[in-house]
Amino acid sequence: MSDTLIAPSLLAADFANLQRDIEMVNNSEADWFHIDIMDGVFVPNISYGMPVLEAIKKHTKKTLDVHLMIVDPDRYIKEFARIGANVLTVHYEACTHLHRTIQAIKAEGMKAGVAINPHTSVDLLKDVIKDLDLVLVMSVNPGFGGQSFIENTYVKIQKLKELITLNNADTLIEVDGGVTDKNAAELSQAGANVLVAGSFVFKAEDQTATIKNLKNIANS
Ligand code: DX5
Ligand code: ZN
Repeated sequence: MSDTLIAPSLLAADFANLQRDIEMVNNSEADWFHIDIMDGVFVPNISYGMPVLEAIKKHTKKTLDVHLMIVDPDRYIKEFARIGANVLTVHYEACTHLHRTIQAIKAEGMKAGVAINPHTSVDLLKDVIKDLDLVLVMSVNPGFGGQSFIENTYVKIQKLKELITLNNADTLIEVDGGVTDKNAAELSQAGANVLVAGSFVFKAEDQTATIKNLKNIANS
């Protein structure tokens, strides 16, 4: 089994010391940078947009994993490619023409991901699963960091894993929301390939050690 990757979410970083926090992640055992873009429409919160992402990109030395919590994401696909997103994930619930959106992301040279809210069944992805590089399973309702993990997520990951295997796909499963040292091992065993962690990493006293610990637990 391949390693479970760790993707710290910069949403929980200190925005007045972003470069410091980015360097911490660069020098840690983290694998990806997880970037949450919120528009205040799809989710009841606004995070940051293109100028901040451009500034972040200048300093990151790892995969830039961009999670769009916005309506009509097609409008911005080219712009995210220009800035240097490596993985671009759109929400199932925000896309009327999901298949077209996925192809548009790939046409720009990025990996294509689809995120599903806690209420959205993994079965709805069966006709596009072969086209997806990644499925992001939301383990909280999107919009805010620091929320409690929803237990039903384990079952969803298992079902998704079955769907991926059944279709001979090589889609990665990412889990986002309320990830800690308490659930990382079980998530990984259920089939998660990438664990996003915001508060658990950035609210810790020793962030580097917390990332290392999370990675060890996820791969235990
Ligand atoms: C929530 C975001 C998450 C968030 C996770 O809508 O998608 O990436 O930063 O934060 P924690 O790990 O604190 O739940
Ligand atoms: Zn996210």
